[in-house]
Amino acid sequence: MKNLVSMQDLSIDEISIILERAEMLKRFGIRELPKKYFVSNLFFEPSTRTKMSFEMAERKLGLETIPFDAGFSSALKGESLYDTLRTLEEIGLDAVVIRHPEERYYEGLIGKTNMAIINGGDGSGQHPSQSLLDLFTIKEEFGRFHGLNVLIAGDIAHSRVAKSNAAALTKLGANVTFLGPSEWAGEFPSVNDWDGMLDTSDVIMLLRVQNERHDGTTKFTKEEYHERFGLTVERERKMKPGSIIMHPAPVNRDVEIAGSLVECERSRIYKQVENGVYIRAAILETVLHKEESAWENSSKVHTY
Ligand code: CP
Repeated sequence: MKNLVSMQDLSIDEISIILERAEMLKRFGIRELPKKYFVSNLFFEPSTRTKMSFEMAERKLGLETIPFDAGFSSALKGESLYDTLRTLEEIGLDAVVIRHPEERYYEGLIGKTNMAIINGGDGSGQHPSQSLLDLFTIKEEFGRFHGLNVLIAGDIAHSRVAKSNAAALTKLGANVTFLGPSEWAGEFPSVNDWDGMLDTSDVIMLLRVQNERHDGTTKFTKEEYHERFGLTVERERKMKPGSIIMHPAPVNRDVEIAGSLVECERSRIYKQVENGVYIRAAILETVLHKEESAWENSSKVHTY
């Protein structure tokens, strides 16, 4: 794997190799790679988790992270993303993590640079590193994907997390269902009430309401949204025994999830953040240093 841009590109075996490597790194620790690599995190949209956990993984792997501030870069003078990447390649970078508001920004870039490209989120398109850390968290909990009932609830149309996870979880044999306002369903057929969802779902994955991607005509107040589509305290009480709550975060407390549930016993929201560092280290190893990731040597056939 040279680049990681979309979960749709990954086979079950490719997903499995990254999950297994992350598991090893979590068990035995992230070690410095034997060779020096230079990377940069190019974030043209806000981020806390993705940017900081890539940076933490890079430091633990002993990579040299060259700072990039989109607000003070020549992108502000009109330089294209392609020209920015060609420039960074000539400067000597080996890999870039990119978050960009334009969906599929990477399509014109793959194959035109020798640097590895890791997609840290493209508009409402894909968020593969988030999906892999979500899969890692689910596997840690249940040890399998096949037959699991996963409910993805909220602002589906604007969510790159929903699209990445729908593709990956379906490929791995989970039953994925969607819940949310019909005007935010996008390409996914979704239900708009919780009847029959709470006591059957193994995972309830809530999505952030992405106000910044709406056109200002949102018809719900926060209270109305929470009452109709949010995970309320009453709904949590009816969840299936052993089921878990996930959310990619940041969380709008008391909108998609009651504030008091963010750190409740079922919640794996901060576990997802912790797992993000191991997944991102596994991704960086995989694209930069195949010998270390065991990517080349794996011939195992994975089933879930
Ligand atoms: N989940 C996620 O992508 O969070 P950030 O926007 O903080 O990176």
